[in-house]
Amino acid sequence: MRIITSPAAMKAWAGEQRSKGHTVALVPTMGFFHEGHLALMRMAAAKAEKVVVSLFVNPIQFGPGEDLEQYPVDLDRDETLARHQGVSALFIPKPEEMYPRGFQTRISVAELSRHLCGADRPGHFNGVTTVVCKLFHIVCPDFAVFGEKDFQQLAVIKRMVADLNMDVKILAHPIVREPDGLAMSSRNSYLGPDERSQALCLSRSIARARELYADGVRDTGRLADEVRQIIEPVTGARIQYISFVDRTTLEPVSQADDNTRLVLAVTIGGRVRLIDNGRLAKGG
Ligand code: PAJ
Repeated sequence: MRIITSPAAMKAWAGEQRSKGHTVALVPTMGFFHEGHLALMRMAAAKAEKVVVSLFVNPIQFGPGEDLEQYPVDLDRDETLARHQGVSALFIPKPEEMYPRGFQTRISVAELSRHLCGADRPGHFNGVTTVVCKLFHIVCPDFAVFGEKDFQQLAVIKRMVADLNMDVKILAHPIVREPDGLAMSSRNSYLGPDERSQALCLSRSIARARELYADGVRDTGRLADEVRQIIEPVTGARIQYISFVDRTTLEPVSQADDNTRLVLAVTIGGRVRLIDNGRLAKGG
């Protein structure tokens, strides 16, 4: 596995692979790998001959007062884990090479970025789309793999690719969860032992909504009340949003159907912001 740190070297290596006729898949990450990241890498390896994983804690997607400075890092461990998933190149650029002095361009997917996480984190998705667009231009991958864990991010990226006629196929990987249901996240490392169990209210509330949906409940106002009843009593849990949305447009719906997704963001212990989501219909 190659470790590549400069965008120019990354571009050259990826170009070389393509000129040899290899297909290339990219998995963008911010590192501190868990099984969710590794599953994306394996999906990429099953799809393309060469897998590039980018590991870059992207400063422009963090707002003031967010966790950029504390974001967990363990490069040695990440390197070993990536090596074992059939990754061909690990791209670890420096912030000053991705954003040299004078950098001022932003990619903005206007509507999809505005609500849900975009309302709580202004500018966040513009930071994501800008870095992902840069990574696509550096690596020129045939495929790029993203997780459904960040459901709005996935929708925003698909929209960007369609709107800007980008030649990359976006592949979505289902959410990878801990055995007790908690969606895996690098940010779970911020949780203390009590908070770790409090955090289960997110996946429990999704399971409850699915149960009600299976029983025929379609009114999303009623479903939202039930979800709230699970989260609100949990000490230290504060709902940022609960929304039942169409899986493509992310527009809220009043009557749920098989395309409806429950998306939620909850802070635990007043500091750790967790997101989760799930389809209401069976199977995903
Ligand atoms: P990061 O949070 O490191 O996540 C990298 C990729 O892993 C994303 O596509 C995310 O959706 C996926 N992922 C994380 N946890 C997952 C889980 N439990 N199950 C399935 N997939 C999971 O998302 C980012 O980084 C950044 O915003 C990035 C796209 C790299 C741009 O900076």
